[in-house]
Amino acid sequence: AKITIDSKGAKAISNMLTGIFFEDINYAADGGLYAELIQNRGFEYNPSDKSFNDKNWNSSFAWKLKGEQTIFTVDSIAPIHQNNPHYAVLDVKVAGAALTNTGFDGIAVKKGDAYLFSAFSKQLAGLTSDFEVRLVSNTKGILAKLTLKNTTSWKKVSATFYPSADATDARLEIIPLATGKFAFDMVSLFPQKTFKGHKNGLRADLATLIADIHPKFVRFPGGCLAHGDGIQNIYKWKNTIGALETRKPDRNLWGYHQTMGLGYFEYFQFCEDIGAAPVPVIAAAVPCQNSGTGGGGQQGGIPMEEMDQYIQDIVDLVEYANGGVNTTWGKKRAEAGHPKPFNLKYIGIGNEDQITQVFKERFTMIYQALRKKHPEITIIGTAGPFFEGTDYEEGWKIATDLKVPIIDEHYYQSPGWFINNQNFYDQYDRLKSKVYLGEYAASLPGGNKTNLETALAEALYLTSLERNGDIVSMASYAPLIAKEGHTQWNPDLIYFNNSEVKPTTGYFVQQLYGSHAGDQYLPGEIKLSNDQDQVSKRIAFSVVKNTKTNELFVKLVNLLPVEVNTTLDLGGQFKSDNMVLKTEISGNPSERLIKPVTSNVNVNDVLKLPAYSFTVLKIKLR
Ligand code: AHR
Repeated sequence: AKITIDSKGAKAISNMLTGIFFEDINYAADGGLYAELIQNRGFEYNPSDKSFNDKNWNSSFAWKLKGEQTIFTVDSIAPIHQNNPHYAVLDVKVAGAALTNTGFDGIAVKKGDAYLFSAFSKQLAGLTSDFEVRLVSNTKGILAKLTLKNTTSWKKVSATFYPSADATDARLEIIPLATGKFAFDMVSLFPQKTFKGHKNGLRADLATLIADIHPKFVRFPGGCLAHGDGIQNIYKWKNTIGALETRKPDRNLWGYHQTMGLGYFEYFQFCEDIGAAPVPVIAAAVPCQNSGTGGGGQQGGIPMEEMDQYIQDIVDLVEYANGGVNTTWGKKRAEAGHPKPFNLKYIGIGNEDQITQVFKERFTMIYQALRKKHPEITIIGTAGPFFEGTDYEEGWKIATDLKVPIIDEHYYQSPGWFINNQNFYDQYDRLKSKVYLGEYAASLPGGNKTNLETALAEALYLTSLERNGDIVSMASYAPLIAKEGHTQWNPDLIYFNNSEVKPTTGYFVQQLYGSHAGDQYLPGEIKLSNDQDQVSKRIAFSVVKNTKTNELFVKLVNLLPVEVNTTLDLGGQFKSDNMVLKTEISGNPSERLIKPVTSNVNVNDVLKLPAYSFTVLKIKLR
């Protein structure tokens, strides 16, 4: 084969094409990226968090009493804060019993690392006394212990553990050292080594793996989580900021509980840490498929009389992110430790909503008001759910009428669909809204949903997104992360448990696109041999230039079962060293995990594209 690049035909493309979609699904936040090790720290789990109102999923979930002559109850009289009404009470008749927490399937700790314990405690009856806190492994015994003082009114106590051994099966034990009645709430244990060392921070290994994708943006907190499954369940950013004990936990529509410990401040901070643009998605005042009861005769959406406040909350979000420290909401950001603005530029309104009249009215109100108040913010609308044949007609109609700058499309398809639809955006009207492909993944039927073939189908489709990078502004694989044993949605880009992170082959494809991103697309032609021409859809390439770093990135995908040899003619315009860096992912298409391998190649030599491979060349221009 021969690839010829038209070096004079360069066109500008989005410089933030690939980013990430973070949704709190699959225990992505609590028990996942959020580094808190104690499960149900605020005693706020509720049977309604789970489908079918699971009675075991209550305020004492993950907590157990070990020992005799002590009664463990949950109370709500005079709590620390009304948003966190429940707390544990231990009525100790004979000292020695322990209130234990098993974390999220055990607590994983490392020998010598620091772990910050904190809790609110209060002695309700008896002479004030001390209590002991222990980290105990099922297999290795006591790993660390310390003693703290009780007081007669709610007080936050804290101390640091240094475990004496590695363990993945630890539990936390709280042991009052005298008889009496004791109350505990917001019992917390954090590794000191969080990502970038932030207090209330993120798991370092997972956050680092995500950062290594080099995402240009982070969409959060969903997905469906953003619009919830009823208007009461719509995600409200104001409930997720401030002191942890004042945040308002909520049911997660994926069947668990959100502490909101990973809230809007932490999301913004993470974006800043990894140099990605924050893209919060706010419900368009309707829940998932407009399913909730709106009250006030407005079935399915926020009642009209509440819309002003709903819109004000979105306007306030811009002030929280970008406002000066003297503004009401900018001040709260500064109090949280970030006086500098977070530089918010994008807000998504709506997520894959059914495009009904209820949606249209509310979306239009929010869109018009936000545009008027904050013209500097780029609003991303939603195309609605993808049904074969409908081409998102209704969502696009609103976007076109209102001149919405960007519209969010979602589709999960087979590898064959991605191979056959590489021209999806070729015909999109360049004068209409731009596209954010907010959710996509190639997936296989059955248990093992991804392998090299799905990853290559995504790599191949991404070449077509680069080609259409003048209309496709952003794209994010979804969902991003999933905890083993708690996965509601398959496939995902990264799997993890308490002590390991497991990127998929698709992860490396995203990483290669993130680290070889350009702002110019160079068209080109590939000439295959006659027999390969029949199957040319299975071969794709794209060439982009990063004009800031003066680098050229060539991406080549070969989904054929045979090796393809090709030469690369860069069109005589570019000067570079002959030796360039090549990164390749190749192997058996049904293999689950294949990691990239790098080598140096001569750009003038015949390039061998192995059967089932993705090759990236990094060419430094002179
Ligand atoms: O990515 C998982 C889910 O898929 C998202 O929450 C939703 O937007 C889509 O249907």
